[in-house]
Amino acid sequence: MIIFKKADQLSHHIVLQKDKGLRIGFVPTMGALHQGHISLIEASRATADITVCSIFINPTQFNNPEDLKHYPVTIESDLDKLHAAGCDILFLPEAAEIYPPGHIKKHYSLGRLETILEGRFRPGHFQGVCEVVDRLLDIVQPHSLFLGQKDLQQCRVIKQLLDLTGRAESTSLNIVPTVREADGLAMSSRNLRLSEEERAKAPAIFQVLSRIRQELPKHSLPFLEQAARQELEQKGFSVDYVSIARASDLTGSNGKEEPLVALAAASIGSIRLIDNLALN
Ligand code: PAF
Repeated sequence: MIIFKKADQLSHHIVLQKDKGLRIGFVPTMGALHQGHISLIEASRATADITVCSIFINPTQFNNPEDLKHYPVTIESDLDKLHAAGCDILFLPEAAEIYPPGHIKKHYSLGRLETILEGRFRPGHFQGVCEVVDRLLDIVQPHSLFLGQKDLQQCRVIKQLLDLTGRAESTSLNIVPTVREADGLAMSSRNLRLSEEERAKAPAIFQVLSRIRQELPKHSLPFLEQAARQELEQKGFSVDYVSIARASDLTGSNGKEEPLVALAAASIGSIRLIDNLALN
């Protein structure tokens, strides 16, 4: 695996590979890699000739400074995992490579998507995600981009970013299914910060989403959302939302005929977890 720290050196290397007709797959991450990230590397390797992974903890997408301060950093084990997974290139930049002096902050028109769910509870988060992904895509210029379904709203936002920036033709977006622990907990870098007691409670989020899926034919959507919220609260979670939405645009739905997804965000102690499940 070749490690690049400089954006221009990586871009130059990529241009040479593309000139040889090789296809580039890209997996952007913030490190603290787990099997979910490795499944993205595997998905990229299955179709691309060269897989590029980036590790950069992007400060502009953290609306909570404490979350940024405590974001796990596990670079040695990340390197081992990327080697073992057969990743070809790691981009490991300093902040000045991503946001060089003179970098101008843009505003991305994300519309409704930015005001609902994560957008409502993490103001500015998706602008920060777009800012860093826009810059990373400029540097890497991949044919295909791989993102995890666990961050479903982020996938929808980045799809919009590709459209807004005229990249939809040159870069395909591939959404890879969520990887779960044996007890159903969605893999996440933030799981590393759960205490033993919190870790034992954390699968409740997947359990309530699964129950929504199971009971969908029997109850109304508001009833199912409310029952799930109550169950999480009873188990000690502080719940931001449990929402049943249209899978296509994540807005609210009245009917059960269209593809639906249940999404939840809830904190246990100081750790905020999100998850989602396709319902039908
Ligand atoms: O999902 C993440 O880890 C981040 O939001 C991403 C896409 C790497 C941008 O910083």
